[in-house]
Amino acid sequence: MANFTVVTLFPGIFTSPLSHSILQKAQEKGLVSVQLVDLRTYASDRHRVTDDYSYGGGQGMVMKPEPVIKAIEDLRAKLSRPRIILLTPQGKVFTQQEAQRLALAENLVLICGRYEGVDERVKSFVDEEVSIGDYTLSGGETAALVIIDAVARLIPGVLGNVKSAREDSFSDGLLEYPQYTRPEEYRGIKVPEVLLSGDHERIKAWRRMMSLKLTLERRPDLWRTAPLTREERRAFAGIAPLYVALIHHPVYDKNHQVVTTAITNMDIHDIARSACTYGVKGFYVIHSVKGLQKLAAKIIHHWEHGYGSRYNETRKVALELARLANTLDEAIMDIEQECGVKPFLVATSAKPGSSRISFAGLKEMLRNERRPFLLLLGTGWGLTESLLAQADHVLEPIMGKTDYNHLSVRSAAAIIFDRLLG
Ligand code: 6GU
Repeated sequence: MANFTVVTLFPGIFTSPLSHSILQKAQEKGLVSVQLVDLRTYASDRHRVTDDYSYGGGQGMVMKPEPVIKAIEDLRAKLSRPRIILLTPQGKVFTQQEAQRLALAENLVLICGRYEGVDERVKSFVDEEVSIGDYTLSGGETAALVIIDAVARLIPGVLGNVKSAREDSFSDGLLEYPQYTRPEEYRGIKVPEVLLSGDHERIKAWRRMMSLKLTLERRPDLWRTAPLTREERRAFAGIAPLYVALIHHPVYDKNHQVVTTAITNMDIHDIARSACTYGVKGFYVIHSVKGLQKLAAKIIHHWEHGYGSRYNETRKVALELARLANTLDEAIMDIEQECGVKPFLVATSAKPGSSRISFAGLKEMLRNERRPFLLLLGTGWGLTESLLAQADHVLEPIMGKTDYNHLSVRSAAAIIFDRLLG
């Protein structure tokens, strides 16, 4: 049994919503009661004024403290163990969990603010302040209705069967699975076959899977705290494998000529170490000039197997990610062998341009895809236009808080890894 007492300047707002469907039946069954209290009856002056100008100036009127506090004191005296709630956008955000908590109270008093706000002193006379979300309503009345609805549904007997409240969206911290009813096919769109199968185990598994997918895609905030089994966490933990390629050809020099740049010892080391830190699956050093490739091989070998590997174990682990390739195509083929599919190519550029994918956009893709991604990093003055055109996506340039963005490729790599995988 839940008894709501609503203190409002506009009791009329509540008439219609409370006289239909579930809320009406709940009251008829005596499971829920709603008492409307007109705040104006607590205004003492002849004109029953409840608002006044804001001290300090500014837009709009403020609700005076006296009528509200008198109403609160009156209701505290009359009701058994009342929980007094001020509805205000500054309150704690109302969630399903909060609804469950409030459903345990015997008497809930909902105080609806109007105008631009309520005199701050009212707040020390209430038990809590509640908001229903991050948007502005003209008053607390619609918020009160939301709370009455969400709480009433949880009172045993209000819904036809106890199960439907338990299966609602949010009750298990997840969004609800998709629902279908007849017809089996509408405008060419079929009801998923599994739902027609009559196989209840399969249906249950499908619904759970859809809930999980939907929540992961749309509500990362819910996903973080959703109560998943360890197997479910593991099954969904994976993001698409990310590879990186440091390209020495074809890139531009400062005169916009297509050239091959020299291998840089520090780039190989630092990118390998960043890649290793962030779980990048492989680091391709792409260079087609035999002499320089030998240098790269020597650097890598020194740390993987030579004196360096004994001198510095951790450097060895990082350098194990490094692989040499003559061309980008060779690296792509190598990844295809490893993953069974070709990678998506994501080029990087320090220059802004049309249709660049954002870091957030690419991060989202990594979460939703299982196909590998190969991130292309240019040396010299950057990847050539033809390479950018060949890529599936071009990542937006890294920008700080200034216009300057001339980063070394190894710094850029570290920042990109952190933004995508951090
Ligand atoms: Cl409880 N009141 C008002 N005026 N606006 C709101 C709200 C409450 N919750 C969200 N926005």
